[in-house]
Amino acid sequence: MLVSVTGAHRLGGNEMSNGIGTKCVQAGYTPGNGEPRQIPIVQSTTFKYDTSEDMGKLFDLEASGYFYTRLQNPTNDYVAAKIAALEGGTAAMLTSSGQAANFFALFNICEAGSHIVASSSIYGGTFNLIAVTMKKMGVDVTFVSPKATEEELNAAFQDNTRAMFGETIANPALTVLDIEKFAKVAHQHGVPLIVDNTFPTPVNCRPIEWGADIVTHSTTKYMDGHGAAVGGCIVDSGKFDWMAHADKFPGLCTPDDSYHGITYAEKFGKEGAFITKATAQLMRDFGCIQSPQNAFLLNLGLESLHVRMPRHVENGLAVAKFLSEQPEVKRLHIQDLKATNIMKSLRNIFQMADVA
Ligand SMILES: Cc1ncc(COP(=O)(O)O)c(C=O)c1O
Repeated sequence: MLVSVTGAHRLGGNEMSNGIGTKCVQAGYTPGNGEPRQIPIVQSTTFKYDTSEDMGKLFDLEASGYFYTRLQNPTNDYVAAKIAALEGGTAAMLTSSGQAANFFALFNICEAGSHIVASSSIYGGTFNLIAVTMKKMGVDVTFVSPKATEEELNAAFQDNTRAMFGETIANPALTVLDIEKFAKVAHQHGVPLIVDNTFPTPVNCRPIEWGADIVTHSTTKYMDGHGAAVGGCIVDSGKFDWMAHADKFPGLCTPDDSYHGITYAEKFGKEGAFITKATAQLMRDFGCIQSPQNAFLLNLGLESLHVRMPRHVENGLAVAKFLSEQPEVKRLHIQDLKATNIMKSLRNIFQMADVA
């Protein structure tokens, strides 16, 4: 599996078929004989090469490897590869924060004059990013209720819509996104569905399995799990056919003059185009790289994610059950969840809890 196009790391086939717990511990990094058991922290800004020709090939994206940590770093790539394996994606990149992840995921395919359809029930910071800051950059948005019908969702689309966005379980409203429905409508309009999967984590829900094209994370929350490191991640499912909608995505489907005239979708295919462009253009121009030290801390959190998430679900349900028995409590969001018609998604999200 392709994880980082300019980087050296690739996942082996076994990592895709392993269970989620094994992936949490093992995926992304396979030490060779005598190599460190834990992922090495490559705390280096730059990488040394013997000839300028070697370096030139890396710059031109003609060879895999590392030259400058703002673009790529081995520690980050190990951890991105693990998250890609957990989500069932083909390529991933770490960012300095969840905000950067959502901004990059959207701005990688939007520009001045574009339009986004977004669920209105999302984290306040993301709402501001889209409704205020990206609006100043000329990107317009229509917010839709996560409970909107297919007809209502269809009505929100415009000729210049380039992405649909939502959160699997929204922060703080806890609304559950009907990923299948949103994906179906997005695909009818020839655009990808981007899903922020911070709250469930891939232990409890893998949006790609329900039709999402791009998955984002604030790794700052459950993935890190220890309140130690702010971070983000973008995972590409590798399923969206950019070339089939080339008129909508010129940034991926026509030559990039700012990067040696590369056409990302042609050179790296469905599996690698999105993340390579985000690395080569957005990371190059905006920065927002996660520090290798923070990537190491994130990986420590990921190693216990499959153990911690079921406990979070158990604790949440115990609190909800307690509250449901208190006469003072007028409304409980968990009961709203039960009332929706998306039990299939819920069973997946709460697969370890009894909500049926
Ligand atoms: C669902 C969700 N997405 C994104 C973010 C932003 O992440 P960060 O704080 O890592 O920038 C948050 C932060 O609370 C969040 O809850």
